[in-house]
Amino acid sequence: MTDQKVIEELRKTFEEKFGGEGERVFFAPGRVNLIGEHIDYNGGHVFPCALTLGTYAAVRKREDRKLRFYSVNLAEDGVIEADLDDLTYKKEDGWTNYAKGVVWAYRQAGMDIPAGFDFACSGTIPPKSGLSSSASLEVLTGEALMKLYGFEEDQVRNAKLGQIAENQFVGMNCGIMDQFASAMGQKDKAIFLNTATLDFQYAPVPIGEAKLVIVNTNKPHELANSAYNDRRRECETALKDLQKVRPELKALCELKPEEFELLSNAIADPVCRKRAKHAVYEDARTTEAVEKLNQGDIAAFGKLMNASHVSLRDDFEVSCRELDVLAEEAWKIPGVIGARMTGGGFGGCTVNIVEDNSVDTFVDQVGKNYTEKTGLVPSFYIVSIGDGPSEVG
Ligand code: GLA
Repeated sequence: MTDQKVIEELRKTFEEKFGGEGERVFFAPGRVNLIGEHIDYNGGHVFPCALTLGTYAAVRKREDRKLRFYSVNLAEDGVIEADLDDLTYKKEDGWTNYAKGVVWAYRQAGMDIPAGFDFACSGTIPPKSGLSSSASLEVLTGEALMKLYGFEEDQVRNAKLGQIAENQFVGMNCGIMDQFASAMGQKDKAIFLNTATLDFQYAPVPIGEAKLVIVNTNKPHELANSAYNDRRRECETALKDLQKVRPELKALCELKPEEFELLSNAIADPVCRKRAKHAVYEDARTTEAVEKLNQGDIAAFGKLMNASHVSLRDDFEVSCRELDVLAEEAWKIPGVIGARMTGGGFGGCTVNIVEDNSVDTFVDQVGKNYTEKTGLVPSFYIVSIGDGPSEVG
């Protein structure tokens, strides 16, 4: 479906569910991370980009204090209601907790939301793909709040409040990368973001005669959130041990690999030591990868993507058999410049840079071999890098 069609249908749905007219339509993108994984909570550098896939919402202010939500993608949930005077996490409220969390975070930050709204949304991000449908919903809600209630447009604040909603309201201890990539996306550019300072630069992604191909394992990954929070704790333990010998250290990614090698024995637990090793080396890899890209050395960028996967698989242990098979099958194909898991892991997707004339072979071979080895059928998406949030109708 074209985006225009999604918007048209969404307007119809809005009318059906909430009646009348006067709704405004907003969009916020999902994201894919090219390199720099699991280091946005270790003060590292990440390199994500926004996608043209994302979430749309038709929204209209109400006179009273009610919030009413409906999702085309989760039609079976029906209309879910909430109240501005009772903004609390409720398991039975499902996906709407992300949007409610953002309203809660904006109010906590001192912004006045005197009346509720009706909100119908529809997304083009494949569900459970790890392409940040939740960050996209958070940034979208923030975008709608800014426009409807006349708050000053500030997308960095929007990203931060989205993260606060997810950390403090939903209880998922994520870093800032996903919300930042969605809120600050720019067409055809990736964002080189220092997560310790939020300094960032846009970098073109000159992949020339090649495509960005995302492959979905289509593996359900329910346990991802608790495993994610475990990794964060392991990194914190490693940091505490390192602070015994380096009291001024504030985050793992402040260390260069050479310094880490000299200090790593201070980390008592070998598992935590491996986690820290990934963080330190992944940060160095990301900075180097962006340098290579700026020099137009896309082959070197691809090799660093592959190395990132190996580190996530062996040292950080957030990959899984399905992601490994996808990456390993991709590496076998001439014309694949780089392939790695992307996002939180334990399922979800790989991101691949594939030369134009190898895309067909890639889809064919990786698809066939993956199904043979795992019994699952993968999905392939050739994606484009898109802009951040906007009002679209
Ligand atoms: C998830 C989190 C991000 C980031 C990635 C891993 O997507 O939401 O903050 O930590 O995992 O890089």
